[in-house]
Amino acid sequence: MTVSTNVEEYLTELQDLCKLFGEYSDITITHTEERNDENYVDRFIYERGEVKKQFAYSYKLSKTLSPLRAKSYRKRMVKNHLYSLLSKELKVNLPWGSLTGVRPTKFARDLVANGEIKDYLIPEILTKDYFVSPSRAKLVDRIIKHQKGIIQNDNMVDLYINIPICPSRCLYCSFISSEMAMVQDKVETYIDCLIKEIQCVKEIIKKKSYIVRNIYMGGGTPSVLTAQQLDRIFSQIHFSVDEITVECGRPDTITAKKLDVLKKHNVTRISINPQTFCESTLKRIGRKQKNVQVLDAYTMALERDFVVNMDVIAGLPGEKLGIFKRTMNTLLELCPHNITVHTLSVKNGALLRNSQEVIDDRDVESMIDYSEKVLTENGYKPYYLYRQKNQLKGLENVGYFRDNYICMFNVESMEETNTIIGVGAGAISKRVFNIEKKIDRQPNVKFIEDYIERIDEMIERKKEFYK
Ligand SMILES: C[S@@+](CC[C@H](N)C(=O)[O-])C[C@H]1O[C@@H](n2cnc3c(N)ncnc32)[C@H](O)[C@@H]1O
Ligand code: SF4
Repeated sequence: MTVSTNVEEYLTELQDLCKLFGEYSDITITHTEERNDENYVDRFIYERGEVKKQFAYSYKLSKTLSPLRAKSYRKRMVKNHLYSLLSKELKVNLPWGSLTGVRPTKFARDLVANGEIKDYLIPEILTKDYFVSPSRAKLVDRIIKHQKGIIQNDNMVDLYINIPICPSRCLYCSFISSEMAMVQDKVETYIDCLIKEIQCVKEIIKKKSYIVRNIYMGGGTPSVLTAQQLDRIFSQIHFSVDEITVECGRPDTITAKKLDVLKKHNVTRISINPQTFCESTLKRIGRKQKNVQVLDAYTMALERDFVVNMDVIAGLPGEKLGIFKRTMNTLLELCPHNITVHTLSVKNGALLRNSQEVIDDRDVESMIDYSEKVLTENGYKPYYLYRQKNQLKGLENVGYFRDNYICMFNVESMEETNTIIGVGAGAISKRVFNIEKKIDRQPNVKFIEDYIERIDEMIERKKEFYK
């Protein structure tokens, strides 16, 4: 499908929306926006082979809106109109309707915060105005209700430490992360630089009187580091915080010695990610782990009283609904504190894109529906949600918790309610100004080699950013 518009700033979003409808290379859409004072008209020409149709949608936009709000409202309207016409012509309803490029829960929360709607109207507005499916609208509503721990305070910050190194590369992954074998000789220097950046962060925190609330070490696979290397990093961090999470992820990197070090440094939560319990899929996606390693790592983690999260992915190559159900059922037997259900995203940077694997998305919606159903039946509640580009059928990732085991860092980073100070290669720092409703971002360089070479520049930039 090709789309063109006379308002260039809409183009990417309109293209993203068209992509979600799948492969219709024979369709051409031409959009023009016309304006007369407060009255706007969106005109579309829809062409498919011999068929040529015209559509016009008019709406009013109050002059009292700020330029920023007016711009975002117009963008929303034009997307809604394009969605209506495509959905009608192709007889396809998308799970998230016309919503693209937004975090659905943050979007709904902002509608309430901006005074556009009352909170009890969230499901109704999402379905009626944005064509979101009733089940997804209800999910957003449930999640917002479970996010009650959010505190918007410009003085509270989270610390994110990035370890972009993995034991080996999984076929579906597009994260920037190096295989350990390729960077082995640079790891100690990387940690030296990380520690240097952490020292700078400590000075910033002191100067700004920030209160560190949560710490998250992610990647990559931080547990690919040795126990001694983990000890070296965590020995630099002495904040009294609510939670410290280490995204171990790959069970084949987890040892008792490493968990002891994490425990010694008050780490509260780790992840051990099966992705699937089907070992032939694991082989297919190049994820070098065995189910027994998940079980061993999980036992060791529970013995040490860690809160455990487990990630799974729906739509992995070769998997049908039956295999996915078995993975979910195994997870429910293990009963970890958190379960995050991802929908496969086939990204450009992933090896999967150019592999021989066939992606079959026919069962993926049933997989996601099944996960929501059984998790709910077993006492799990959804607490954060995000969508990425190229996810099968435009579906989503949802984090579930049982009892009270919410990971606040996940909520705060997804909802963008708190400042996050990111350290390490590829880490992104965010400064949230809640009163001004403004978020500034600053990324570090992505690759380990560049980070080591440019560490002093990263530190100077960071000092300037948090001035
Ligand atoms: C930062 S990643 C990796 C964490 C850890 N290295 C691991 O592999 O277990 C966090 C999660 O994102 C999910 N993920 C990564 N790539 C994905 C993709 N292409 N599609 C869907 N989920 C993906 C996986 O479930 C993964 O556990
Ligand atoms: S999924 Fe995890 S272990 Fe696999 S390549 Fe991506 S970050 Fe590394």
